[in-house]
Amino acid sequence: MSLFRKIFFTVLALNLFYFNAVAQRTEVLLDEGWKFSKGSFPAAIEPGFNDTRWETVTVPHDWAISGPFDKEIDKQVTAIMQNNETKATEKTGRTGALPYIGEGWYRKNLNLPVIQSNQKVLLQLDGAMSEPRVYLNGKLVGQWNYGYNYFYIDITNALRAKDNVLAIQLQNKPKSSRWYPGAGLYRNVHIIIKDNKSIDQWGITITTPLIKKEFAKVNLKTRFTGKGLKLVTRILDSLGHQVAVDTAKSIFGSEADQNIAVQNPHLWSPENPYLYAAVSTLYEGNIPKDVVRTRFGIREIKYTAGTGFSLNGQVRKFKGVCLHHDLGPLGTAINTAALKRQLTILKEMGCDAIRSAHNMPSPEQLELCDEMGFMFLAESFDEWAKAKVENGYHLYFDTDAEKDVVNLVQANKNHPCIVMWSSGNEVPDQFGAEGVKRAKWLQEIFHREDPTRPVTVGMDQVKATMQSGFGALLDIPGLNYRVHLYEEANKAFPQGFILGSETASTVSSRGIYKFPVEKGADKQYPDFQSSSYDMEYCSWSNLPDDDFVLQDDKPWVIGEFVWTGFDYLGEPTPYDTSWPSRSSYFGISDLAGLPKDRYYLYRSRWNKTKPTLHLLPHWNWEGRTGQTTPVFVYTSYDSAELFLNGKSLGIRKKDKSSPQNRYRLMWMDVKYEPGTLKVVAFDSQGKPVAEEQIITAGKPAKIVLSADRKEIMADGKDLSFVTVSVVDKDGNPCPTATDQLNFEVSGSGKFRAVCNGDATSLESFVKPTMKLFSGKLVVVVQADKKAGEIKLKVSGKGLKSAQVEMLAK
Ligand code: GAL
Repeated sequence: MSLFRKIFFTVLALNLFYFNAVAQRTEVLLDEGWKFSKGSFPAAIEPGFNDTRWETVTVPHDWAISGPFDKEIDKQVTAIMQNNETKATEKTGRTGALPYIGEGWYRKNLNLPVIQSNQKVLLQLDGAMSEPRVYLNGKLVGQWNYGYNYFYIDITNALRAKDNVLAIQLQNKPKSSRWYPGAGLYRNVHIIIKDNKSIDQWGITITTPLIKKEFAKVNLKTRFTGKGLKLVTRILDSLGHQVAVDTAKSIFGSEADQNIAVQNPHLWSPENPYLYAAVSTLYEGNIPKDVVRTRFGIREIKYTAGTGFSLNGQVRKFKGVCLHHDLGPLGTAINTAALKRQLTILKEMGCDAIRSAHNMPSPEQLELCDEMGFMFLAESFDEWAKAKVENGYHLYFDTDAEKDVVNLVQANKNHPCIVMWSSGNEVPDQFGAEGVKRAKWLQEIFHREDPTRPVTVGMDQVKATMQSGFGALLDIPGLNYRVHLYEEANKAFPQGFILGSETASTVSSRGIYKFPVEKGADKQYPDFQSSSYDMEYCSWSNLPDDDFVLQDDKPWVIGEFVWTGFDYLGEPTPYDTSWPSRSSYFGISDLAGLPKDRYYLYRSRWNKTKPTLHLLPHWNWEGRTGQTTPVFVYTSYDSAELFLNGKSLGIRKKDKSSPQNRYRLMWMDVKYEPGTLKVVAFDSQGKPVAEEQIITAGKPAKIVLSADRKEIMADGKDLSFVTVSVVDKDGNPCPTATDQLNFEVSGSGKFRAVCNGDATSLESFVKPTMKLFSGKLVVVVQADKKAGEIKLKVSGKGLKSAQVEMLAK
């Protein structure tokens, strides 16, 4: 065949293929044109209900993020057992102090194409906070209690020929969470229209049971509805080229079983996240009835006593972080650009794994982890049958736990990024015989649904779980903190390895430093900030360096998941009782996504491709001249020399005299004087190879802007994150500036949100004005649907204003 004919027929075949795909299965995102109101509206289920005065919103939507913050919201008077508290105290910002409690309603007219008698319609919610009750044309068609889970409903029988009205009621109880859960339809809502004879929802299971250099065996199990059908599966490589094709020969009832060989497979890993796709076409005679495309990866995971975890035959340790689901100033409303930015920041740090604390991750986050290369620990619950909070998941555990696990696994099983499931986090059921049974029961449900991945629980009651058998029965014993018990637990448990399922919980505020510099638990200061010398932690937790020692010295420790990658709304420990603290201090980066110093400590260990050399604190200490102001350097180099105003303050070299001396270079007795602080790092031969410096800044003079992306998509959703800072007249960054700034967005975009990372700020995330915190903040700009230029202008009193141009394409 001539090249032209070959191209012509390929194009024709592709067109037919896509035409059929579209004709047979249509998937629509219900994102625009929703009506929303907070309050109780039982009559809103009726199609004729008048909602014209309700707010028009787009979904994903978080009804509480626009505030205002209020101390009284969800004030919990309680003793937090997990934090070793014995006396009840008033916890003000525990769930973020944002108005998420109460009832809320969403309504939408469904403009569907005409549904044929041979078709069915599914409605899928990826998560709704919480207790969604779904009504179609006045009839209850579905409900789910757990706000974090995905579920779908067959709505075919409740549909009318036209004028279909969907109404969704949501309800958030007080005292139902330990962090900000968000509120509303915070994840995507999908409509799927397909033939009655079609592949079942979540009906395709892809595994790779045999992987060799020359070939991989790809097993596909496909559940479908309909008799006398033929299933053809094509495997495409990452460029979309077909590498294998197979017509199913073994069909058992309504499940086909196929084994397909992929020659010379490219393996998936964080360093090379190679993805294949399986295109499954279901035929009746020669007519394609359904086409589903599923992405997958070929990779082998193993957990072995003694040697620990290996991916594709290579032993490695998880360099992971835990993440709550909120996106700082965007709240919980899922946004792909915001998730991608988080992962980009983490990738640069050298992080290779994420734990979704303490619930089901969003589909978008998992897709990005597949694409960008992050291993994933997908968690399910923070509570089983025993309560942590009065209205927590324990209310539903007995009735819902099994179906919640089933949906978690079924919706996500084909993501190569997922390397382990977690059935729980620090559940109080760790105590007592009933808890042991629950652990076993849940683990068996995971195994039944997915025999290829192990299950862990994040355990904090390590002694109790050693005695009861709880820890011994888990596939992977996960320890939360308790570094002093790792050795003992590894001896007591039979698995032969330990995972740091949650580590560090070190606290700090970006750009804030406290004196004297001393290690300590639960330290508090009058400004409700924690020190960025990274020496402060909680009574139950520890410093990063303590984890590093275990990770480096114990081959049976299989990695760690640091609490947390980013600050999150709620849980403002150590200031749980100190209003106005309303967000966490645990993050390696702050709530705005700006790295704290700790970011560079992890980077210096984790990023193996780029060197790290980072100097702290800042050098603007008016009033401290002559006073002891320690200097730390977080670096991948082994030694360095510090200079203050040209004078050497000596060389420091990492040594094993203490965990801190092993991982940080520290000059504890520096006497402050303004000027230039410089560090010069040496390679292993003692040759100077890199340097960094900080200069004492003068008064703030002008504003500086830096956008993470200057070209964004004109899709009404894409975001650019603009870091705003101020510099003095000579261009030196002003690290203590707190100027009030104003933001104006014009052109093809709009102002979406702003955040300065200050855990005590009560300024709104959605008003275009905010004070700098430690000299910085981040403005989030959202693209319109219309392509064109977007301008962000930032101004402030007495400062030279600045403008950045972006493009929505
Ligand atoms: C853990 C818990 C997390 C968070 C953290 C704070 O015990 O699993 O959800 O509360 O402590 O240190």
